[in-house]
Amino acid sequence: MTSLSYQCGFGNTLATEALPGALPIGRNSPQHVAHGLYAEQLSGTAFTAPRSDNRRSWLYRIRPAAVHGRFEPLAHAGLTSDFSAVAPSPNPLRWSPLPPPDAPADFVDGLLTWAGNGHPDQQSGCGIHLFQANRPMTGRYFYNADGELLIVPQQGRLRIATELGVLEVEPQEIALVPRGVRFAVSLPDGAARGYVLENFGAALRLPDLGPIGSNGLAQPRDFLTPVAAYEDIEGDFELVAKFSGRLWRASIGHSPLDVVAWHGNNAPFKYDLRRFNAIGSISFDHPDPSIFLVLQSVSDTPGVDSIDFVIFPPRILAMRDTFRPPWFHRNIASEFMGLIHGAYDAKADGFLPGGASLHNCMTGHGPDAETFERAVKADTRTPQVIEDTMAFMFETRCLLRPTALALASPQLQGNYADCWQGLRRHFTGARP
Ligand SMILES: [Fe+2]
Repeated sequence: MTSLSYQCGFGNTLATEALPGALPIGRNSPQHVAHGLYAEQLSGTAFTAPRSDNRRSWLYRIRPAAVHGRFEPLAHAGLTSDFSAVAPSPNPLRWSPLPPPDAPADFVDGLLTWAGNGHPDQQSGCGIHLFQANRPMTGRYFYNADGELLIVPQQGRLRIATELGVLEVEPQEIALVPRGVRFAVSLPDGAARGYVLENFGAALRLPDLGPIGSNGLAQPRDFLTPVAAYEDIEGDFELVAKFSGRLWRASIGHSPLDVVAWHGNNAPFKYDLRRFNAIGSISFDHPDPSIFLVLQSVSDTPGVDSIDFVIFPPRILAMRDTFRPPWFHRNIASEFMGLIHGAYDAKADGFLPGGASLHNCMTGHGPDAETFERAVKADTRTPQVIEDTMAFMFETRCLLRPTALALASPQLQGNYADCWQGLRRHFTGARP
């Protein structure tokens, strides 16, 4: 039984049942669960994590998650969590979009690890993947013990059937599947591509807003969690796990998406990036790009995130006597960017929807020469409306190490750094 509807709110404890009476009342694990279901807890944080961070859900299901065959290694040429193989360079990197795959690939087959840092065994760092899929996961289910997955479709819709319900996402929406949650992806448009952030560390959460106040940026009510929906089917199926950087497969005689009811706050969600309330300067200068923070994975150091998920949405630039594109900069953080839709306002060309760029710690970058020349001539007495755009950034505390696959890709633009070499000297030394 499947249905498609959502409950609102970020991190809230929710309760949902696909069969009336399936949810126990007053107990999490009663001696007998209605309809002959099994009770099972899914913990996303340490049991003793502070209440504000604690995430767990109780699932009421046809069979427990332990019912499956023995796991055996499953080869995958494009997927890795080993980021030590290649020495990273300080060069800025940019890739054109990948061409469509020439072989059949479902969502798992089509994952290509592009960069990352840390390691899942330490629950620290991330993997950044591109994905391209041209067939649905049929009789195949996946879970990732290494981290949660933030899925950013760029072309084509995804239907993500999870243990806790069904998410449908289109480009300019994101989906999050928590660590360990089993799911299968089908493709309503026949093919899809996009980006995936695999977060090994603390679960992504909404940032505090400080002086911004109680409104603005991403609003909790716009995060949508699915209602319970289950599959009661048996067959010769496959359960694929990502565990310690590698894939494993086990046979399973039934759909693991057999959760009839659940309650808790450890659950998948989707969010429409077009609902982000962008905030910026209404006088002069730019706030730092943290003003565009959607979700953060916090580290053990206050104020220093392991990962920030940041977007550059449509917005109005009203700052006067200001260079309006992002200025030239070097940051301690490392920045992996992708473009979901339209054009990015800091680059005249070369950064295409479906493409990617990587500017690592202290690598100088900023607007290209053409964008610079245009911006210094702009009339800043008039607001500038930026429409038809949606870029994003996975910004990390630690260096992002590109994979050998990414560096060998024919889509790597060998001349990327040339976009700044046309920046002319304007300095004269003459007194103004
Ligand atoms: Fe940057």
